[in-house]
Amino acid sequence: MLPRDDAVGMRRRSVLRGLAAAGALPAVSACLTTGTGDVPSGDPSERPARQHAWNDLLERDDHGNARLPERHAFLWLSYVGADRSADRDRVEGAFTDLERAYRAGSDGLLFTVGYSPAYFDRYDEPLEGVDLPPAGPLHDGEHVATDDADVLVHLASDHLGAVQEAARVLLDGGEANGTAVRSLSDVVTIVRRREGFVGGGLPAENDANLQGLPEGSVHEDAPTFMNFRSGLRRTQAPEDRVTIEEGRFAGGTTQHVELLRLQLQEWFDHPPAQQIAHLFAPDLDVEDVGEYGERLADHNGVEPVDERGLREVVAEHGVVGHAQKLARFREDGRPPILRRDVTSADNGEAGMVFVSLQRDVADFRALRLAMEGLDLAAETAVGERRDNGILQYLRNRHRGNFLIPPRELRALP
Ligand code: HEM
Repeated sequence: MLPRDDAVGMRRRSVLRGLAAAGALPAVSACLTTGTGDVPSGDPSERPARQHAWNDLLERDDHGNARLPERHAFLWLSYVGADRSADRDRVEGAFTDLERAYRAGSDGLLFTVGYSPAYFDRYDEPLEGVDLPPAGPLHDGEHVATDDADVLVHLASDHLGAVQEAARVLLDGGEANGTAVRSLSDVVTIVRRREGFVGGGLPAENDANLQGLPEGSVHEDAPTFMNFRSGLRRTQAPEDRVTIEEGRFAGGTTQHVELLRLQLQEWFDHPPAQQIAHLFAPDLDVEDVGEYGERLADHNGVEPVDERGLREVVAEHGVVGHAQKLARFREDGRPPILRRDVTSADNGEAGMVFVSLQRDVADFRALRLAMEGLDLAAETAVGERRDNGILQYLRNRHRGNFLIPPRELRALP
């Protein structure tokens, strides 16, 4: 896989946007979403045994950061088949067909298939060795819907055409990239669907007419709606750390997915130094981070501080950083969760599909509770949202937990 210099990718988009603005190109988006004509097809035997083992298939930038595919689709499904063992071949057939249709990688298609506690509840088989509780509210004050879908399929590719086509054929059957794909239509119904994107320039290209985001505010090369890049190599868990090690589902992982709505009017009233204080930590310099994180290498530069230290940070700066609240959970220098979150403009709203992989859902829960910072709000000058990391800019709509089994068990485990 060729290493890719993100800065070059970002400059490429800036140049393309400039040409489009000058009328030399019909529209930049047409260049980035060219359909699937040049997408390589694949060989199922080349896929790794762990569904979530994407990192070796992803391009890396000069600092070794894995670059997520740019385009994502999420399909929440209900299993409506009557006979799970009879339906397994059908389901596995559809996923194997997809693997034949697209090469495993950002230039083709990556995907995971996960199953919720509601799905497993139907069968009287204990989930030995897997921590997969239903995803309720984090605390009494949180009002979120809980996922009742059985299955979540996460599709990712650099080609928007590929994720859209893969989603369509999974639901309706037909050809994908010249390969016939069996559909899941007899055994599933669709509950919800979201698309997302991540990567330099895409948020600015998709910022028109969105609730929660003043048009033209996002930096033209920024990878997310809040401007700053996230998911640096050394502030992510390694894939081994999030892999279930024992029992029937060894080689799998758990996935937490929350749908967040962003409210960024005030965010863009702040200068970059203030944004960095809220997102990273108040003692970081814009010179080291950059206006949209472009100066970071493979680490976010945030030093871990314990709970007492966080209170001192508030006393000194009046604000505590999002990453700063979570850095104390690092093990051997790395967080216990692997984030694969993307920005979303679905339903005319600035949003995020936050995807976290971890061995035990408890690993996620501990961090997410720390992010809520209720203890800090009770004991210091920050509010339950205001100056408490980035909480002021988020509203959580929906959360769900899923088990992503090893690939050999991905069909109705
Ligand atoms: C809109 C929502 C969010 C945004 C924009 C966001 C953005 C960021 C950014 C820019 C960083 C610093 C760069 C990096 O280390 O990758 C970061 C770090 C981090 N975020 Fe978030 N994040 C969001 C939600 C969450 C949620 C829901 C969690 C779940 C607990 C989370 C967990 C983490 C962790 C574990 C780190 C690294 C902490 C460390 O330095 O050890 N984030 N996030």
